[in-house]
Amino acid sequence: MSIKAVVFDAYGTLYDVQSVAEITEDAFPGYGEIITQVWRIKQLEYSWLRSLMRRYQDFAAVTRDSLAYTLRVLGLAYESEAFERVIEKYLHLDPYPDAMSTLAALKPRKLAILSNGSPDMLNALVRNSGLDRLLDATISVDAKKIFKPSPQAYELVGEELGTGPDEVLFVSSNPWDVAGAKSFGLNVAWIERVTPEAMALACVENELVAPLTMFKAIRTQMDELGFAPDHRVRSLSELPGIIKG
Ligand code: LAC
Repeated sequence: MSIKAVVFDAYGTLYDVQSVAEITEDAFPGYGEIITQVWRIKQLEYSWLRSLMRRYQDFAAVTRDSLAYTLRVLGLAYESEAFERVIEKYLHLDPYPDAMSTLAALKPRKLAILSNGSPDMLNALVRNSGLDRLLDATISVDAKKIFKPSPQAYELVGEELGTGPDEVLFVSSNPWDVAGAKSFGLNVAWIERVTPEAMALACVENELVAPLTMFKAIRTQMDELGFAPDHRVRSLSELPGIIKG
């Protein structure tokens, strides 16, 4: 069956979640990196915990709560202005340099985002980055009131695009999302941005493990969940070459 739609995860895949590091360092000098890493780890944790607890709140709330947790546990007092300035960056994350050109190269297939992001967050993000001009749909899991990797979240692809699972290539850099999409039955490409070799090297370079290294160890290596991607590529730009038909 040929691929009729390519569906992308947003945060970490089309957009670089590490691009908040400058604003967190500016707002909290000396703490930028540890805030950036703990915040992202906690943000995802809260999305999973709220799904399991059946206590859904949207990703905007989860992103705010995980930032508040991070600043509290680091003992950082802050004015609401600094907090809001950091949160605002999530509407202006840097797209990966090859995101726009890859989407253009994948046309005329249907192109969409399927993301945990709330509708307001995602609509602002794709508008601010200009990717909205290339996307046929920006799908938020908010419609199902449960986060990825719940199968209910991935059902939205077929419901919104009118495609069968075997007609879709789902693309994510997040291993947990790769496993969820594969478990659901989509064709999956993993953007493997941190190789095991780079991971191992980062761990031995310094006797102290930097927060970014810890993040890479926790969130960038394929998980032991029994669901492997169909394709492993190092960057978005390799995608047009792996899709047949
Ligand atoms: C997304 C991130 C959370 O759903 O993976 O865009």
